[in-house]
Amino acid sequence: MAHFHALVLALLVFTGGWCHCRADVGDFTACLQFFYKFWPPKGLSGTPVCQRYYDQYHFASLYSRPRRSPWFSAYLYTTPRGKRPPSSWKFEPQLAYPEADGNMMPFLPGVVDQNVVESQAVEQDYINSSYTRGHLNPSLHHQHHKDRSSTFTLTNVVPQKVGSNDGPWEFLEQAVNKTLSAYCLGEAFIVTGIIPYQKEERWLKNHRVAVPEYLWSAYCCPNYNSSLPAELKETFPTYAAIGRNDRNSTEEIVPVDETTKKQFRGYDVRLMPLATLEMYLRSRFGIDISIFYLQCSGSE
Ligand SMILES: *[C@@H]1O[C@H](CO)[C@@H](O)[C@H](O)[C@H]1NC(C)=O
Ligand SMILES: *[C@@H]1O[C@H](CO)[C@@H](O)[C@H](O)[C@H]1NC(C)=O
Ligand SMILES: *[C@@H]1O[C@H](CO)[C@@H](O)[C@H](O)[C@H]1NC(C)=O
Ligand SMILES: *[C@@H]1O[C@H](CO)[C@@H](O)[C@H](O)[C@H]1NC(C)=O
Repeated sequence: MAHFHALVLALLVFTGGWCHCRADVGDFTACLQFFYKFWPPKGLSGTPVCQRYYDQYHFASLYSRPRRSPWFSAYLYTTPRGKRPPSSWKFEPQLAYPEADGNMMPFLPGVVDQNVVESQAVEQDYINSSYTRGHLNPSLHHQHHKDRSSTFTLTNVVPQKVGSNDGPWEFLEQAVNKTLSAYCLGEAFIVTGIIPYQKEERWLKNHRVAVPEYLWSAYCCPNYNSSLPAELKETFPTYAAIGRNDRNSTEEIVPVDETTKKQFRGYDVRLMPLATLEMYLRSRFGIDISIFYLQCSGSE
């Protein structure tokens, strides 16, 4: 009997379906299952947030308090079904009150608590700015309704130009969905993050939320169908991309295709191997950054 209980507990812990109500902020211990081999990316520092919604963990984000936006979000891809849920935006009470219930909470109409406003981005920051709310972990990479709804938290969002969010970046999310749903046979781990401006930070109005110059994303699917079509040969077990979030950026990292439709021009996404992404991250952050354990090589 004791064995049975231990097994059930182990399963619950493993699937992340159980709330221990501890350290949702400041520590990834409770949500390591969203990282390949339980190994969060190395190199970036920030405030870990285990993204909890209705008492279950749904993904993990490394949050930057000074930027009031995430460095990255990490999640497990599941083949989507159904429609995008309504955008009901949420915040993370524990960033404001360490003792608070760790579940993300919807913004209610009316005045937002001042400690919440101080500690993170709020809806007012994005309203009437020239940026949209860009999901790092997108709703469209999830099957279950709660996984989808849980992505609508401002701790998973960065200021993203509409030409990127509704254009090349969205096409990337759709392409990754097609590739993984067709050829990934086991779990697919995705990490999506940002690269800040190199010289001078840009901010949303009010100087509260930092704007990224680029978005990046990488997946790791160690167990895949090896009969891949020629155009997908390089894309397993891991592949990556960097997308422009500023038309005026120089073209060393991501060149601009001048033939793209005007509304999306300058927001190109460049696909690349994981090692190339990590090379750009190293050069921009000035530190070694490893996204997946052993580059998702699958070796033990
Ligand atoms: C946004 O702009 C509109 C029109 O200029 C204005 O009426 C509204 O109050 C603004 N909202 C916020 C939150 O700034
Ligand atoms: C994601 O992939 C699934 C399975 O291939 C497909 O049914 C669905 O339409 C795709 N969704 C998007 C938004 O591309
Ligand atoms: C792998 O892909 C091939 C060709 O696309 C397909 O015929 C086969 O059924 C797939 N195998 C699995 C295990 O999904
Ligand atoms: C890009 O440059 C144009 C022209 O100089 C300027 O109006 C625009 O604000 C710049 N965009 C960004 C995102 O800095």
